[in-house]
Amino acid sequence: MHPVRLPGSFFFFIIIITFVLIHAPKFASSVDERYANCSRTFACGNIENIGYPFWGSGRPDYCGFPGFQQNCRDSILEITIMSATYHVLGINNESRFLNVARADYLEDLCTAFLINSTLNPDLFEFTSDTQDINLHYHCPQIPNQEIGFVINFTCNVNENTFSGVYRDSNLSELTGVCSDRVVLAANQWGIQSVETSQSLRWENLVEALAKGFGLQWNANNSLCDRCRGSGGECGYKTFSNKFSCYCTDLAYDTVCPTPTGRFVTCLSLVISLIIRLFVFQS
Ligand SMILES: *[C@@H]1O[C@H](CO)[C@@H](O)[C@H](O)[C@H]1NC(C)=O
Ligand SMILES: *[C@@H]1O[C@H](CO)[C@@H](O)[C@H](O)[C@H]1NC(C)=O
Ligand SMILES: *[C@@H]1O[C@H](CO)[C@@H](O)[C@H](O)[C@H]1NC(C)=O
Ligand SMILES: *[C@@H]1O[C@H](CO)[C@@H](O)[C@H](O)[C@H]1NC(C)=O
Ligand SMILES: *[C@@H]1O[C@H](CO)[C@@H](O)[C@H](O)[C@H]1NC(C)=O
Ligand SMILES: *[C@@H]1O[C@H](CO)[C@@H](O)[C@H](O)[C@H]1NC(C)=O
Repeated sequence: MHPVRLPGSFFFFIIIITFVLIHAPKFASSVDERYANCSRTFACGNIENIGYPFWGSGRPDYCGFPGFQQNCRDSILEITIMSATYHVLGINNESRFLNVARADYLEDLCTAFLINSTLNPDLFEFTSDTQDINLHYHCPQIPNQEIGFVINFTCNVNENTFSGVYRDSNLSELTGVCSDRVVLAANQWGIQSVETSQSLRWENLVEALAKGFGLQWNANNSLCDRCRGSGGECGYKTFSNKFSCYCTDLAYDTVCPTPTGRFVTCLSLVISLIIRLFVFQS
């Protein structure tokens, strides 16, 4: 018996046809799952339409940007930046502003851990109406109340009693007097109204801090604009640590290809296959 000899190109042809038959309906009808998942925004409390660069709370990490993990706890949206936790009070996805307040200063000025409001400069910037304030802790003596602006308070945390002082930023040289210092960010108008008010109470400062301050974010913003402009959803390839643009068919590096672009890619694929076929046969 002689085995039927078929040319190699015939097998190649069969393989290509099979491939096309298997995959064509998928390309034509189903949408890439990452695209579908990332186009779904989420809501937490009264903050709605939370999308890229935020992820967490059921939104997959590939739909966001590293450093923008959010946590929706009891209808309160939280974000952690450089180990300090903030309540998110508002998000403006068009101008990429975030209004946040330190979660550990909402009740009083006393916390178990002293953490500065430091930012990751690659991702966040304070808005221009944000200013630093200094809180001083563990002060054996209360600075002279006659000079400048002083609020003193007593803390009782985990059965530890210690003193604290807020002094306006113009007169913050309390080194030597107090052993610890925390730098917090606050809205400058809120702080101005505390400092110009007649009653110097720590409650006013807590109230000003609770109103939050502004942050501007950068999560490959311009790449995301281009991706959205081409009909894609912004995201991140966690395995290659790169921005990703999810399109209805696949994930791309920056933008979704146009129908012409797709056709050209397809055509060049077919041409390269044909060329390979000829090389294979000769
Ligand atoms: C997309 O979301 C659905 C529903 O939440 C989930 O079952 C699926 O695994 C997600 N797909 C991917 C690729 O993560
Ligand atoms: C902001 O969110 C709204 C509501 O989901 C959406 O229509 C809009 O496209 C978003 N804009 C940007 C720049 O993300
Ligand atoms: C906060 O920052 C200031 C100035 O950089 C520094 O002196 C202080 O020790 C920092 N405090 C904490 C708790 O890290
Ligand atoms: C603030 O300082 C004054 C004067 O040193 C002191 O009498 C007062 O008890 C202090 N208040 C608090 C809340 O620590
Ligand atoms: C702090 O200094 C600025 C500029 O020197 C001044 O305008 C402001 O009134 C001062 N604040 C207080 C509370 O004295
Ligand atoms: C995207 O963001 C990362 C991290 O901030 C940065 O290193 C990278 O340069 C950005 N890429 C572009 C093209 O902006």
